[in-house]
Amino acid sequence: MESKTVTLVQESFEKVKPIAPAAAEIFYGKLFELDPSLRPLFPSGEEAMKTQGNKLMTMLAAAVAGLSNLEALVPVLQDLGKRHVAYKVEPSHYDTVGAALLGTLEAGLGDDFTPDVKEAWASVYGTMSSVMIEASY
Ligand code: HEM
Repeated sequence: MESKTVTLVQESFEKVKPIAPAAAEIFYGKLFELDPSLRPLFPSGEEAMKTQGNKLMTMLAAAVAGLSNLEALVPVLQDLGKRHVAYKVEPSHYDTVGAALLGTLEAGLGDDFTPDVKEAWASVYGTMSSVMIEASY
């Protein structure tokens, strides 16, 4: 992965971190708007959604931090992908989640969500999801 991509993603993620709970809420709002059939895959209830949002943000934070050392990240993503099969996640869902993620970053970063930042995140999410999908289906 190009070092410019890694830097853009890591720097922009730093700006999202302080608003992580709000970002998680925006994310799930967008996700279920894009595909309401995904809702039953997740535990219901406000507390459960909060926990889930935290998990997503924590994992993204770890992934973003780990981008500089992709080799160590790959087995973690492979295991994560395999666990997602048990959550009834299908390969096509990854595109929907990617769209919700980019939409969330756009909402959270405002003017800082430049075309370069968008492209960098699309590339990173694409890499992460490919590793998860290829290990699992
Ligand atoms: C790069 C992509 C993704 C990342 C980093 C990610 C991250 C996570 C993490 C960290 C967990 C906590 C459980 C565990 O570690 O096994 C989780 C659970 C889950 N994820 Fe993902 N995920 C991704 C993609 C997706 C996609 C595409 C879907 C499809 C809708 C999805 C749906 C779920 C569901 C349903 C759970 C379990 C919820 C529960 O029962 O608590 N995830 N995800």
